[in-house]
Amino acid sequence: MPSITLRVNGRSHTVDVDPTTPLLYVLRNDLDLHGPRFGCGLGQCGACTVLINGEAVRSCVRATSSVGSAEITTLEGLAQGGRLHPLQQAWIDEQVPQCGFCQNGQILTAKALLDKTPRPSDAEIRQAMSRTLCRCMTYYRVQAAIKRAAGLAGTAVAAEDGGAA
Ligand code: FES
Ligand code: FES
Repeated sequence: MPSITLRVNGRSHTVDVDPTTPLLYVLRNDLDLHGPRFGCGLGQCGACTVLINGEAVRSCVRATSSVGSAEITTLEGLAQGGRLHPLQQAWIDEQVPQCGFCQNGQILTAKALLDKTPRPSDAEIRQAMSRTLCRCMTYYRVQAAIKRAAGLAGTAVAAEDGGAA
């Protein structure tokens, strides 16, 4: 089995895996990082999202060998120096999760959005989050938390923001 070295949350890890193994499996099974979840396994739901060089990527359909030396960030890598990331704090303040299963993907997709667009409009939030699915329908609170983390708390979320397709 070939060795592959990955950069994950600022550290290098070498694993012996089939190069076609989905990145999600390596993160969960070899590196013991359980932030990314297995939902659909088909790139459809977003539960397995990680950041690769800052882009939100569905790790269930990404071959481990294709990542190369890119920097992978998982949910476990957001808190720094014992302090939660502002998005994580906003998630707590807005009491976003219900069952919690999708929330890894919600938070990391939101991070990719705010890193590029620090003060997004409601439409930009809707667009960025529209493919990250939540069967518990936490969409309204997700959007409120993103606005809080962006310093836009107190501005109303438009009524039509209460759900996603
Ligand atoms: S588990 Fe990867 S997109 Fe659903
Ligand atoms: S909180 Fe249950 S699936 Fe989103």
